[in-house]
Amino acid sequence: MTNDSLFGIGPTELKTDPVGREIPEFPVPAPLSVHGPARIIAMCNQKGGVGKTTTTINLAASLAEYGRKVLIVDFDPQGAASVGLGVPTHELVLTVYNTLIDRTVDVHDVIVGTSVPNLDVMPANIDLSAAEVQLVGEVARESILARVLRPVIDEYDVILVDCQPSLGLLTVNALTAAHGVLIPLECEFFALRGVALLVETIEKVRDRLNPRLEVDGIVATMFDSRTLHSREVIARVYEAFGDTLMHTIIGRTVKFPDASVAAEPITSYAPTHAGAQAYRQLARELIARGDAA
Ligand SMILES: Nc1ncnc2c1ncn2[C@@H]1O[C@H](COP(=O)(O)OP(=O)(O)O)[C@@H](O)[C@H]1O
Ligand SMILES: [Mg+2]
Repeated sequence: MTNDSLFGIGPTELKTDPVGREIPEFPVPAPLSVHGPARIIAMCNQKGGVGKTTTTINLAASLAEYGRKVLIVDFDPQGAASVGLGVPTHELVLTVYNTLIDRTVDVHDVIVGTSVPNLDVMPANIDLSAAEVQLVGEVARESILARVLRPVIDEYDVILVDCQPSLGLLTVNALTAAHGVLIPLECEFFALRGVALLVETIEKVRDRLNPRLEVDGIVATMFDSRTLHSREVIARVYEAFGDTLMHTIIGRTVKFPDASVAAEPITSYAPTHAGAQAYRQLARELIARGDAA
């Protein structure tokens, strides 16, 4: 069977993914009676515009819908994850930047709630762009985010770090703090360019700074089932990375930019839309793989 209309038939009805693998049932996860300690997942790809922030927001919102306590760390000076969740970043006095450069800042004072129950965010704004330069001379400069998150790790089940599009010191901090990495990959011709460098960086961080770090998965985004092109890209990703490619594939739809304008996850903006269902499936797949509680 081919999946000729990802959005015609709901993703839950699809039996095979676009590379021909049978899609297992990802059951609705049982509620958690105790929370924490969190698994930290870095959302990483040094290419911009591949769906990191969209995946962070909507995966987080889906996990929160399943009763998981979720924290998003906005680790991009653009602040798109914060803005996408309705946090007015320009008015903020305290952001993730302050926690990095000032040890006396209590991380609890920086975290804010969102309109989604169980979902909090540690916001960022343009201040964060100075951090990279300021942290260069610090002792253990790669482990600062890990230290910042320590006081809240028991309060969440999952912490997603939305990285900026670079492999600089901030991203290395995210990788050093993380248990796993999710790599959003746009279904576009040059998507695989740069992934080798990203994997090399992940391996270096694992060898030198964070032995527990693993690649949890590659999430294909902006898939257009009508084009041969999208299918070819997915086939090449599967060839190169095998089952690291998650079954769940996120289709291309204007509902995602629409939801960003509304400053909401798609799961609340258009709860029954196939895009919302796809991110819920991604959350269930992640839990089924043991990569989230
Ligand atoms: N599946 C999708 N379909 C259509 N547009 C998308 C999709 N995912 C993301 N976008 C849009 O593409 C742009 C870049 O996505 P974003 O998540 O901000 O990428 P990144 O964080 O990697 O830079 C945004 O305008 C976003 O709304
Ligand atoms: Mg982003």
